[in-house]
Amino acid sequence: LQPKPLAGKRLVVTAGPTFEALDPIRGITNHSSGKMGFAIARAAREAGAAVTLVAGPVRLPTPRGVQRIDVTSARQMLAATLAATVDADVFVATAAVADWRPAEECGHKIKKDGSGQPPSVAFTENPDILATVAQGERARRRALFCVGFAAESHDLLVHAQAKRARKGIPLLAGNIGPLTFGQDDNQLLLVDEHGTQELPRAPKLELARSLVADIARRLPSWTA
Ligand code: C5P
Repeated sequence: LQPKPLAGKRLVVTAGPTFEALDPIRGITNHSSGKMGFAIARAAREAGAAVTLVAGPVRLPTPRGVQRIDVTSARQMLAATLAATVDADVFVATAAVADWRPAEECGHKIKKDGSGQPPSVAFTENPDILATVAQGERARRRALFCVGFAAESHDLLVHAQAKRARKGIPLLAGNIGPLTFGQDDNQLLLVDEHGTQELPRAPKLELARSLVADIARRLPSWTA
C-alpha cells in the first residue's frame, strides 16, 4: 500500500456557486457545477487528509468520509471557511463566488407595481474569500497553503500570474480552454512563483488526484 501523502493534514475546499438573494424567492447565481471542488475533496480524503467541503447550492453527493458544510451566500461561505481553516494545513478555493450581491435583500416578494417601470437593483461587492484567508495570519506564517482557481477566457498565463500575485497565494490552477462548467473533464495550468506546469485534459477526479499529489509535494518546503 502506498503511504498517504496527506495523512495527518487538514484540507478545506470551497465548491459550487453562491446564491445571493434579491427577495425571498429570487436571487443571482451562476452555472458552477461544483464538480471540481467535490473531486478535490474526494481526492484529498483518499490521500489521507481530514477534509471539510464548504459547498454552495449544488446537488452532488458528499464524498465518503468528507465533512460537508452547506452554505448559500458568499458571506456564509466566508464565515464557514474562516471557521474551518483555523487549524487547516491546506485551503483550495474552487467556488465560483458571486462578485456582487444585491445591496439590500427585500423581505417580501418584489411585485410588479403596474407602472411598467422595472425595479432597479443596486449591487454591493462580496468579500473575496480566498484573498481574505490568504491574508490571514495562519497563511502568512506559512501554516496554511492556499490554492486558487481561475477561469479566464483569454491570455490565461498573464491573467493567472497576475491573479496569483494579487491574491497573495503560492499556487493557482487555471482552467485551460473553453469554460468547463458542468463538464466531467478539465485541463489545468498550474502557476507558481517559478513558472507553469500543465495537467493535461482528464476527468476531473483524475486531475484532482494530480493536483492533490502536487500540493502534498509542495507542503514540506512551504512550511519549512
Ligand atoms: O478573482 P477571481 O474570482 O477570478 O478569482 C478566482 C479565485 O478566487 C477562485 O479560487 C475563487 O474560488 C476565489 N474567490 C473567492 N471569493 C471571491 C471570488 C473568488 O474565494 N469572492
